[in-house]
Amino acid sequence: MCGIVAYIGHREAYPILIKGLKRLEYRGYDSAGIALLNGNLNIYKCKGKVADLENIVAGKNITGSLGMGHTRWATHGEPNDTNSHPHISQSGDIAIIHNGIIENYATLKEELSQRGHEFTSDTDTEVLAHLIEDIKNNTHTSLEEAVRLALHEVIGAYAIVIISKNDPTKLIGARKGSPLVVGIGDNEYFMASDATPIIEYTRNVTYLNDGEIAFIKDGKLSIKTIQNVEKTPYIEKLEMNLETIEKGGYEHFMLKEIHEQPRSIYDSLRGRFDPINCTFAMRSLKEFETKIKNLKRIIIVGCGTSWHAGLVGEYLFEDIARIPVEVEYASEFRYRNPVINEDDLVIAISQSGETADTLAAIELAKEKGATIFGLCNVVGSSIPRASHAGAYTHAGPEIGVASTKAFTAQVAVLTLWAFGFAHLRGKASKQDLRNAFAELEAIPAKVEKTLEREAQIIEIAKLFSETNNALYLGRGYGFPVALEGALKLKEISYIHAEGYPAAEMKHGPIALIDEAMPVVVIATKSSIYEKVISNIQEVKARKGKIIAIVTEGDNKVRKMADYVIEIPETKEYLEPLVATIPLQLLSYYVAIQRGCNVDQPRNLAKSVTVE
Ligand code: F6R
Repeated sequence: MCGIVAYIGHREAYPILIKGLKRLEYRGYDSAGIALLNGNLNIYKCKGKVADLENIVAGKNITGSLGMGHTRWATHGEPNDTNSHPHISQSGDIAIIHNGIIENYATLKEELSQRGHEFTSDTDTEVLAHLIEDIKNNTHTSLEEAVRLALHEVIGAYAIVIISKNDPTKLIGARKGSPLVVGIGDNEYFMASDATPIIEYTRNVTYLNDGEIAFIKDGKLSIKTIQNVEKTPYIEKLEMNLETIEKGGYEHFMLKEIHEQPRSIYDSLRGRFDPINCTFAMRSLKEFETKIKNLKRIIIVGCGTSWHAGLVGEYLFEDIARIPVEVEYASEFRYRNPVINEDDLVIAISQSGETADTLAAIELAKEKGATIFGLCNVVGSSIPRASHAGAYTHAGPEIGVASTKAFTAQVAVLTLWAFGFAHLRGKASKQDLRNAFAELEAIPAKVEKTLEREAQIIEIAKLFSETNNALYLGRGYGFPVALEGALKLKEISYIHAEGYPAAEMKHGPIALIDEAMPVVVIATKSSIYEKVISNIQEVKARKGKIIAIVTEGDNKVRKMADYVIEIPETKEYLEPLVATIPLQLLSYYVAIQRGCNVDQPRNLAKSVTVE
């Protein structure tokens, strides 16, 4: 978490940094800060959002063509002005911004304190600024060498940027475990947590690898490892469009992203299968054909919404390809000494491609010899780079903190993989593929049609915006949808919500139901439709208020439910792609009714790069 951006070149840095911070604010918004070098090192920082920072700097000296900015998601030290970044060294000459956690900061701090260093904040980051200066002064070395030597002593994860009053032509950045991209313009350079602050200025970027340090000195970029090995920068062209990271007329990114799903699902499927010849065009299927034919088990790892997509993946792979699957919370998997074999395939699902726990889970699985497929949205991010193969979701940048279009794009690709694996293992014929492709091609239009229910959903949201609790029930493919619906509601509206397998309710949660409890039920026409109806009866008997997601034309559930939202009929295995949409809209409009900041819910950040 935390967003970092930096600039060195011929323009004024401030406008670039502020705009960049606004784009990175999804990564954290507890506090914001900026450092500008113009002979003096001017630092402005405060608790709050980037807009608060703008108020603070009004009327101050914001000149300088070298500078850096930070938007924080607090880990060490509460969000306040002092703990905000940038942090400075003992003399105040060196400034640093940081995304990550320095795990051994307490030991380093103790050692530095004994050498006379005094600290003003509670952060781990300040310690690093002091350490760099300490090494620089004691070894009489250059700033860049001091940074390299300091990083030798650091345990933990970081993306850092450093500037110094005494070195006004230098910008230094380094990464280990947290992302950092360097933009290469015409006599100017940028550094940022992702490419969004850079794209207006240059399309040429290089993504730093773990353990690499980028030095910009006198207008030239060089890259070295912490072990002092020179690296040739690998320059890539950015393909992102500016429009995709702006709101495009919508009130919030979340709403825009919900509405983008017909397109993002289409883009995630596009070019990956040939419906005429019934073949796939996915490198992962081609290059790992033998592996897929022989694998004994799939382990899916992810967190949050990506874990929910993984649960859909379990149902898909078992249902369609008949391969045993385990779905694991990455944070649990990595610490519970799991059994991992060489003939396992681990699929890591992550929108950001940077989630620390998911990344650590695949590193563990790699050590044990498993093959890793990454399923990520952010191109060039750490998880795809650490995977043996995989696929991107092509959902486009997802900026709203609550994940929406990434989820459906993940499920779309998992469906393709399930059929691809099934075909390679003789479990799906060409005709099965033909049918599945036809169904998949129809999904974007069905999602479009579901979005037309928006006005009705707004009305339902108004009725339930004051509730304190909500239950979401589903069975089969409807169960992960229920979990995802509950997560969306709680994270953006702060209403306590639980997702449950509908039949599990009678083993405990049914005690919660009374006339004040809204119960959202996924009650579409499926193989277990009748069973779900029985569960609805159980809720009804306890006076719960039922909001049912039903298949178009349904009149059985309609008679029992208080409200119904219709979605187009589709194959059961594709239902999560459609049934999730009304739940996203419902949570969005409930949160709006409650006056919540849907794009930046409290305590959250988009990219969770700390464990
Ligand atoms: C929920 C949400 C989070 C993320 C989770 C994993 O709306 O956004 O639960 O799904 O933090 O993030 P990624 O997918 O980037 O690994």
